[in-house]
Amino acid sequence: MKKKILAAAGTSVLAALVFAAAPPAPPRAPLGLPTASWPADNPYSPEKVALGKILYFDKRLSADDTVSCATCHDPKSGFTDGAAVSTGIRGQKGGRSAPTVINRAWSLNQFWDGRASSLEAQAIGPIANPIEMGNSYPAVVARLNSIEGYKPLFKAAFGDETIDITRVAKAIATFERTVVSGDSPYDRWKAGQTKAMSPAAIRGLHVFQKAECDACHEGANFTSNMYSNIGVGIAAKETDLGRYGITKDDAEWGAFKTPTLRDIEHTAPYMHDGSLKTLEEVVDYYDKGGTPNKNLDRHVKARKLGAEEKADLVAFLRALSGKGWQDITAPSSFPQ
Ligand code: HEC
Ligand code: HEC
Repeated sequence: MKKKILAAAGTSVLAALVFAAAPPAPPRAPLGLPTASWPADNPYSPEKVALGKILYFDKRLSADDTVSCATCHDPKSGFTDGAAVSTGIRGQKGGRSAPTVINRAWSLNQFWDGRASSLEAQAIGPIANPIEMGNSYPAVVARLNSIEGYKPLFKAAFGDETIDITRVAKAIATFERTVVSGDSPYDRWKAGQTKAMSPAAIRGLHVFQKAECDACHEGANFTSNMYSNIGVGIAAKETDLGRYGITKDDAEWGAFKTPTLRDIEHTAPYMHDGSLKTLEEVVDYYDKGGTPNKNLDRHVKARKLGAEEKADLVAFLRALSGKGWQDITAPSSFPQ
């Protein structure tokens, strides 16, 4: 009898151990997107998402408590800021437009020039960028350590109360991987719901293919994650040479990362310099063949699309607006 009880207790201890060892499953990818890959050294956990979300919205990460990640990547504006270029601390303006944080889980390198190789590497960049959040890593770590309420959150996410910049990066990146968009009219149409996309949008998909947009905006996230020169901003007084600034490779002169087109209708203005205000302007830009220059990609050329084709193409782009990210709102209170 005694033996039996012990054996039973043994099994339940074992079961408890197995249960504790099994990592929590990340949220399922929305319709239309493959399962995202979570880095082995920064696996998903709901506690890390919760911490990362608070850090993402907390202005105390900036030097003067005025700017958070959400200032420039605001959920209310499709995780961008609606401006051509962003404004950081003390009203300083940067040189590039804030890209959306939506669907970064399916991205390879981050930034318009791909200079960060992971979301973890990207996440802490803005904190120390003098014109974005203007802080330093030791200062932000000291600040967070001075806020008692953060300690239990770091403990829940990482097992102990230690706060360091690597953990800040890991938590923010984990939160960012939960900012998703899928299950759009396009995804439902592709999954067999023939009425999910309007006839105009279906025609627009064909224009998208005919105009070779999918040479670069390809796959589930509508980006090859590669760099191309489409001529945007090339005629500016001080030309931003994009990827070339990182690699010094002539083939990447004036090339920028191909952005996702998911939820594109919510993230105007467009391009790395925010120079195009509407999707109609974007379509016209491509239709005239971009801005000629010595490295213009061969897929960008004058198309002479008709007015209806252009309208259909825009209808298709609007059919890429999905669901997921709308559920994320700013926290109602912050750790004290
Ligand atoms: C002052 C505005 C501003 C703030 C604050 C800011 N960002 Fe950004 N963010 C930008 C701009 C501008 C870029 C593009 C810069 C570039 O490509 O050189 C960018 C790029 C990114 C990217 C790359 C997206 C892509 O598609 O390549 C991610 C991810 C991101 N920011 C997340 C964050 C996080 C997380 C924080 C907070 C720690 C943050 N940002 C704070 C303006 C801002
Ligand atoms: C040669 C590759 C390539 C082709 C072909 C291409 N794009 Fe792009 N697309 C890019 C790159 C690169 C950018 C960013 C350029 C920049 O900011 O300098 C971009 C930007 C965009 C943007 C703005 C995204 C944002 O977040 O600002 C839209 C919309 C867009 N493209 C739609 C299209 C459409 C529609 C077509 C077909 C008519 C097309 N693209 C063809 C590479 C391409």
